[in-house]
Amino acid sequence: MQRDIGMEFMAASNYPPETRTDEQKGLPRPESPDNSTGPDKITFKLPSPEDTVYSSHSVYGGSGGSCGCEDPAADPEGFGGPNGRRSLFEILRTRRSIRRYSAEEISAECLSYLLWASCGISGESDEFRTAPSAGAIHPVETSLSIQNCSWLPKKDGIWRYNPTEHELSLVAEGIDAVAGLGRACMMQPQVLRAPVVFFWTAKPYRAVWKYGTRGYRDIFLDAGHICQNLYLAGVDADIGVCAINAFADEAVKAQLRLPEDEVVVYAASCGHKRR
Ligand SMILES: Cc1cc2nc3c(=O)[nH]c(=O)nc-3n(C[C@H](O)[C@H](O)[C@H](O)COP(=O)(O)O)c2cc1C
Repeated sequence: MQRDIGMEFMAASNYPPETRTDEQKGLPRPESPDNSTGPDKITFKLPSPEDTVYSSHSVYGGSGGSCGCEDPAADPEGFGGPNGRRSLFEILRTRRSIRRYSAEEISAECLSYLLWASCGISGESDEFRTAPSAGAIHPVETSLSIQNCSWLPKKDGIWRYNPTEHELSLVAEGIDAVAGLGRACMMQPQVLRAPVVFFWTAKPYRAVWKYGTRGYRDIFLDAGHICQNLYLAGVDADIGVCAINAFADEAVKAQLRLPEDEVVVYAASCGHKRR
């Protein structure tokens, strides 16, 4: 096989790294997550994921849930969906990429759940989240393109998620910013129409500091876990999700106002399914 740039990358990111990593050299760990909120930033505190309907996890609530299990002993893993919710089996069985959305907006409660489920903090520190991350480094950040949303201080705009505070901060306001991202995603109709589009970006040095060139691989693997979490939470919340990798990196980067040291990795459109 011809040794193209991809094969070069695979060889160059072999493990263990040939040279000592910056962590091994004693250089300071880069800051993560990126919680830089300036004093004038417009922010929106999301409802706590624990306070939303999505957090109901009394495993054998109601009449036994959608799996029909009346007896906890018959379902020791607790996969039976409580309170009429889908079981994990059912969520996995029915997950599909959904590209046709209605105009209905996604509620604050629902967006809170989708953000928390995809990459929110679930442990005693921000190292421990709903998605795993190599070395608990979490190089991936989440930005959102949101349009026509009545409950946010700005109805159209680009927002950045702060997992520590579980809040959004405004990056750019207006429909032009949202439309610019649609263009950057090759005018894919589901991106243009989606009420919310997730964009996952990364500061590679966070992973490279710990793992050398190998760290670049971790970024993509981490983003894949995050996106799958979003897909599964989407089925749970009856929200359609479609992963997106067809975009022009530099155009997305400009629209998201990313700093030089941050790259665009992955995206996903979300919305209520068009019936
Ligand atoms: C890494 C990745 C990139 C993708 N990029 C796009 C995309 O840019 N546009 C799109 O419409 N679907 C995209 N998809 C969705 C796939 O087309 C979809 O997963 C595939 O057709 C299988 O369908 P399913 O997800 O319903 O099982 C992507 C999926 C993955 C995993």
